[in-house]
Amino acid sequence: MTNITIIGEAYGEAEDKAKRPFVGASGQELSRMLNEAGIDRSDCFLTNVFNIRPPGNKIEAFCGPKAEAIPGFPALIKGKHVRKEFENELYRLGDEVLSADSNLVICLGNTPLWAMAGQTGISKLRGTTLVSSHTVSGYKLLPTYHPAAVLRQWELRPTTIVDLMKAKREAEYPEIRRPKREIHIEPSLSDIRSFFNEYLPGCRCLGVDIETSGNQITCIGFSPGTNRAIVIPFVDSRRVGRNYWTNQADELAVWKLVADVLGAANPPKVFQNGVYDIAFLWRSYRIKVRGAQHDTMLLHHALHPEALKGLGYLGSVYTDEGSWKHMRKTSTIKRDE
Ligand code: URA
Repeated sequence: MTNITIIGEAYGEAEDKAKRPFVGASGQELSRMLNEAGIDRSDCFLTNVFNIRPPGNKIEAFCGPKAEAIPGFPALIKGKHVRKEFENELYRLGDEVLSADSNLVICLGNTPLWAMAGQTGISKLRGTTLVSSHTVSGYKLLPTYHPAAVLRQWELRPTTIVDLMKAKREAEYPEIRRPKREIHIEPSLSDIRSFFNEYLPGCRCLGVDIETSGNQITCIGFSPGTNRAIVIPFVDSRRVGRNYWTNQADELAVWKLVADVLGAANPPKVFQNGVYDIAFLWRSYRIKVRGAQHDTMLLHHALHPEALKGLGYLGSVYTDEGSWKHMRKTSTIKRDE
């Protein structure tokens, strides 16, 4: 058993000649990145979704209309489905994954992600673990960028190495271990009071984040520590009038509690792009924020000015949470970060 299986897309010219995966330019870049992440390539089992070379090195050459698709698999590229005649490659891949029986399967790019998870969207899913559901189910997957994409877009390289560093840690055990957090949602006024009374005294740093829609705050989250948070909703689309609070006196009392916590110098606060939140709170609600001490977006930017700064990206790099993409059911609420 090797602890890591690495799956690429398909043979290129060099691989087709050698009949071995990752022996050409992409393979050399992969070895360099693995090395920088502390992974010994010789400890990994390497293969491809297709151990054959697509004409013109274009994976589209294996694709056709939905009528010719492998049953149970979505399109690999918009409107383009892998043709059923290539299904044998998936059987071969499945046998290989089972015999390697690694703790972790690294999917390099969209094609292995499609083959093992029936999903695409590598930039949203990279850096986060998920369980395989296609070809063979039950294996822990970690998608990241394909080395050929790194060679074309050099700015993807640091992120790919960070993902491979996570892969090294994840390869120590086969199951998915998510952080344990207690998140209070849909609280009553007295739940909010008890939460603040219990967790704010002695809190060293209070995480604060608002969600907005138009010029309204739809909810505010407070987190007094890494494993606990409360989400205070104001908008609830399931309710008549879309107001979470059914009683005006309670809503006013909640806003007063929120304004008091935000207006106090202590506990010090950490925001994600707080410049936006703090200005919004003042402009739309005349709530003043004091004690805004840290900002995750700015701290991250100071460390990695070349990298993305959104919460989804930060979550993939600094936490063991699943993909942000799958956490939100609606996408109607927009804000700048
Ligand atoms: N690209 C791949 O996806 N696999 C290889 O083996 C070589 C290049």
